Amino acid sequence: MRVLFAAAEVFPLVKTGGLADVVGALPEALVAGGADVRLILPGLPAILAGMEQLAPVCELGAMFGAGRVTLRLGRMAHNGVQAYIVDAPYLYRRTGNPYLAQDGKDWPDNLQRFALLGWAAAHLAAGELDPGWAPDVLHVHDWHAAMACAYVASHPGGGVATVFTIHNLAYQGLFSMDDFHLLGLSSRLKVSQGLEYHGLLSFMKAGLKFAHRVTTVSPTYAREIATEEFGCGLDGVIRALGGQVSGILNGVDHAVWNPAQDTQIAHTYSAKALEGKSQCKTALQQEMGLRVDAKAPLFAVVSRLTSQKGLDLVLAALPDLLQGTADGSFQLAVQGNGDPDLEAAFTAAAQRYPGRVAVRLRYDEPLAHRMMAGADAMLVPSRFEPCGLTQLYALCYGTVPVVRCVGGLADTVVDATPQSLETDTATGFQFGPATAPALADAIARAVQAYRQPAQWRQLMLRGMAQDFSWQAAAGQYLALYDAARQSVPAFGRLTGG
Ligand code: ADP
Ligand code: GLC
Repeated sequence: MRVLFAAAEVFPLVKTGGLADVVGALPEALVAGGADVRLILPGLPAILAGMEQLAPVCELGAMFGAGRVTLRLGRMAHNGVQAYIVDAPYLYRRTGNPYLAQDGKDWPDNLQRFALLGWAAAHLAAGELDPGWAPDVLHVHDWHAAMACAYVASHPGGGVATVFTIHNLAYQGLFSMDDFHLLGLSSRLKVSQGLEYHGLLSFMKAGLKFAHRVTTVSPTYAREIATEEFGCGLDGVIRALGGQVSGILNGVDHAVWNPAQDTQIAHTYSAKALEGKSQCKTALQQEMGLRVDAKAPLFAVVSRLTSQKGLDLVLAALPDLLQGTADGSFQLAVQGNGDPDLEAAFTAAAQRYPGRVAVRLRYDEPLAHRMMAGADAMLVPSRFEPCGLTQLYALCYGTVPVVRCVGGLADTVVDATPQSLETDTATGFQFGPATAPALADAIARAVQAYRQPAQWRQLMLRGMAQDFSWQAAAGQYLALYDAARQSVPAFGRLTGG
């Protein structure tokens, strides 16, 4: 089985969120499962810099506004996985965020930048670009690569099966329909059965309408996106796909996230030797300027600061938590960046409660490891969460997750109740309504458990014993690829269903 992954980011080269972690880890798990997997990525500076043995495969000439586009093939230096790079200097050789310019706004030519990625993936998959290799399955991730599905469907004779994975339905890649002509596709697709979304051009719809199979990253999110509440205006499209949408839970890359081997934390530890974790906590309290107190329950947040993540609930609950919780020793450490209002509010909280609230407004991978290892509990109060990886990493690090019962968080954390504690299945704390009192109540329950060391230790160990390796997901993807291949007609489809 030959599989081509099309995506815009990959850990550790370019990462804005969990998508990069998935694209960084899943290919190796599929290779371990017997597949031949290659990636196709945009030629962003950090991606080019992370490649070895890069050699041209073919020249594509001038396309999508770029004067010169070259497809290159090489290996990612950190793991040896082969990747095709769409090298279009005019479109991709820009530093910083892959999607946003320095002013925080979308790059004005994102339509061309990501249409080119999809175009190149589709034509490579059709066997036109590399005489030495073509995939059986093209696995496309998020809106950034989704146009690949429309190009495959518009290209009779390709014969490749397409699988589209939604990592986050809230980011859809919407553009003005006036720019449709730039895509080089038939105007027949300018309809709601094609790429039209409320008068706009939607890249997300290219994946939803034209892929042979659609997946998302947890079973609960797969059900949620068929509802108005979580469907981001596309719930009707999702419902129409019926059983073709499945949820496959993400995994954890234990080569990266493993407290027993983590070189970025103050002291390694494991379920059998937990002592190192308290050293990590002391080190984190020192680093963040929090009061060094082994008995203070230290809660952490590692997150993009966006409304999705529900961190305004943490801000709203904070005064009560700091004044009322248990003996008043509650501590909060926040790492994240994004929404300027949230950044300002967390900064103000840290100034107001020195020694008890600390904030680092930056993207910093090693710090994320130190937070994961040093905190007692990890807060993930998301309004919606397709899968969520931080709660999985927290579980591996014996850091008890406190999460909203939604999406992948609902699928991966078992709420501590008298029954689940009795049967030793509890791994964390969940709350229902997206309100500050509901969050505060879950945190209060967690602090209460923290005050009973035997119970807390049981929660930590049960969490650390969970198996979230990528192996299970890889098996499910391989089965899905097989099913997708069976369903490919002899000739490509011209219109969406
Ligand atoms: P999302 O993809 O929605 O942001 P996930 O939980 O799936 O959420 O993945 C988030 C990933 O980004 C995790 O690997 C997390 O550690 C990382 N992360 C988020 N914010 C930061 C930050 N400020 N610095 C370093 N890593 C971060
Ligand atoms: C998205 C989602 C997150 C998920 C990640 C990887 O960014 O917001 O929940 O874990 O993709 O699939």
